Order: sequence, then structure tokens, then C-alpha cells
Amino acid sequence: MSDKKNPKDHGIEHYQHLDLDTDVSEQLKDVYSNWADSYDDDNDNKLKTVSQPNTVQLLMRHCTAKEIEILDVGCGTGIVGQYLKANGFTHFDGTDPSQEMMEHARSRGYTNLLKLVPGNPLPVEDNAYDATLCVGVFTHGHLGVEGFLELIRVTKPDGLVCFTVNEGVWESGEFETAIDRHSKAGDWEVLEMTKQDYMVNEGIQAWYVAARVKQ
Ligand SMILES: C[S@@+](CC[C@H](N)C(=O)[O-])C[C@H]1O[C@@H](n2cnc3c(N)ncnc32)[C@H](O)[C@@H]1O
Repeated sequence: MSDKKNPKDHGIEHYQHLDLDTDVSEQLKDVYSNWADSYDDDNDNKLKTVSQPNTVQLLMRHCTAKEIEILDVGCGTGIVGQYLKANGFTHFDGTDPSQEMMEHARSRGYTNLLKLVPGNPLPVEDNAYDATLCVGVFTHGHLGVEGFLELIRVTKPDGLVCFTVNEGVWESGEFETAIDRHSKAGDWEVLEMTKQDYMVNEGIQAWYVAARVKQ
């Protein structure tokens, strides 16, 4: 209860007020360990976040096979997994720095849930997945464009990378420039890049990007 009295201590209000001059990953650890139990309710009812179904739809526009191996980076409580399962996907793993968030993902069909350490390589092998998703993580203080290299590394050649970028960090984080740089370097080919609803009740949109990893 007391966590919720100060809005800065809870959920979206907190991470929009992160102190970017100090260790943000430590602050996020507290944010998500406090938020884990009420995250899904906030997602559905308070924020009306639509990034998870939208990203699964994005994946399905570029991949019809359902037996593919998928990694959900920053899986949190596993809402993306819930939509993957509902749409017939059978093999997906999740990874996240918050053990408290991932506890909620256990019942959502993930084969493996792996803890990651921000700033370290993802805890998976090179070229391991047919598709890598990253939803709600390229946002204030969480992960910047340096994250693209890891998404590309763990995705098989010809595999898909699908992610969202909160419009609030799109310019300041130089996302478009970095996406273009990876295209010019031959790392991926962008298949789709559109701005759509993200947190409907907050009036916040995100960029939704699908890219095919090159050989
Ligand atoms: C807004 S939540 C999104 C969770 C889930 N993908 C969803 O759409 O519901 C952001 C998640 O990113 C995780 N996270 C924070 N920093 C991260 C990083 N550097 N790399 C990957 N995930 C991170 C948090 O622990 C949290 O679970």
C-alpha cells in the first residue's frame, strides 16, 4: 500500500521520473519489483497498453509459421507470451532483469525464463532464435540503441526482430539514425516501421519496427 502513496514510487510515474544521472538499472530493479503484482492490472486498465498484441500482430504480418523459436527480451510478466500462445505459437523463451516480474510469466507458456543483467550480453547463444521480440523496453532509461546489436546477435540469419520504441525517446535516443545505420551496415533489412498507439489512456504512441536479419 505505502508504495502507491507516492506516485513516483510506482509504475509508469516512477520510470518517467528516473534520475538519469545515477545508476538507472538499480532504480528500475526497485520500480519493477514494486510494480510486479499490479503491473498487469495497470497495463490493461490504467494505461490501456496495446504494444503486446500489436507487436504479435506485427510478427504475424511477416511470419506465418507457428512452430518457430522466439525470444521475448524484457518479457516482464509475460503479456507478450500470453498473446503468442493465444495466436498459436508454441515455443517462446523470455528474459528479463526482474525476477519479480518474471515470476508472473511462469504460467504464460514460456519454455525458459532467463534472468538478464542490463549492460551484459543476453544469456543466450548467437543465432539461436527465428524471431526476437522486444516490447516496451526501448523507453525512458531502460535500453538504448546499443540493444540492437544483441537482438541481431541472438537472431538467426533471415530471422525477424520486432520491437517497439516509445515516441518519447525516439528522437532523443537517435533510434531512427541507429536503425538506418544497421540497415546500411547490412545487419538487417527493415520491413515495417510505423507509429501506432502504445499506452492509449496516456495518449502515448510508439514506433513499431520489424526487421529481417541478414546473413
Ligand atoms: C514496460 S516493461 C515491459 C514488459 C513486457 N515486455 C510487456 O510488454 O508487458 C519493461 C521491462 O523491461 C525490463 N528491462 C529493464 N531494463 C532492461 C534492459 N536493459 N534490458 C532488457 N529488459 C529490461 C524490465 O524489468 C521490465 O520487465
